[in-house]
Amino acid sequence: MRRVLPDSADLPPAISSTRVRRAAGSDLDDLVALEQRSFSTDRLSRAQYRRHLDSDSAVVLIATDSHRQLLGSAVLFFRKRSSVARLYSLATRQEARGHGVGAALLVATIDASRQRGCQAMRLEVRSDNSAAIGLYERAGFQRIGRYESYYEDGADALRYELTLA
Ligand SMILES: CC(C)(COP(=O)(O)OP(=O)(O)OC[C@H]1O[C@@H](n2cnc3c(N)ncnc32)[C@H](O)[C@@H]1OP(=O)(O)O)[C@@H](O)C(=O)NCCC(=O)NCCS
Repeated sequence: MRRVLPDSADLPPAISSTRVRRAAGSDLDDLVALEQRSFSTDRLSRAQYRRHLDSDSAVVLIATDSHRQLLGSAVLFFRKRSSVARLYSLATRQEARGHGVGAALLVATIDASRQRGCQAMRLEVRSDNSAAIGLYERAGFQRIGRYESYYEDGADALRYELTLA
């Protein structure tokens, strides 16, 4: 996964209720805005999001609050003839973090991978991203390797896998 932008300190209060659904074309503006606020490298472009929304080999999920405002998103990729799903991206709006949005999205990606018949999910995460690593490990992901100097700034990536069988 990509390099993450730092948290901002002066943010509005967090949101309480969360619903997860597949993203639609009408969510494109929100998805691109969240992408730009969350990641500083390897951002998915609007055109890429549009393609993924229409693709059989991707699932884009969003979490919304009771006012249908975007709280977070997840991007999951599948490959033909592979039983391994790849969690490419998971992001929660800064002001909504720490309230279970990321966990709700992660559970939904696990469900989507199972429904697709996948036997495992894999992902890469920066070795210094303690929030994401904690979330993945609590969900049962196991560390399966490390890519050294994987990111532009020289940070390592940790590889994780969740067995779904
Ligand atoms: C990683 C991220 C998606 C987590 O989203 P979130 O909505 O805050 O996650 P949750 O509220 O579901 O928290 C999940 C767990 O992570 C823990 N957590 C959340 N923020 C944390 C932090 N800053 N440091 C350590 N743990 C943290 C929570 O305590 C929670 O654990 P619990 O279930 O035992 O209480 C979010 O921090 C984010 O968008 N970060 C920027 C993008 C990113 O790094 N994406 C992942 C790699 S691509």
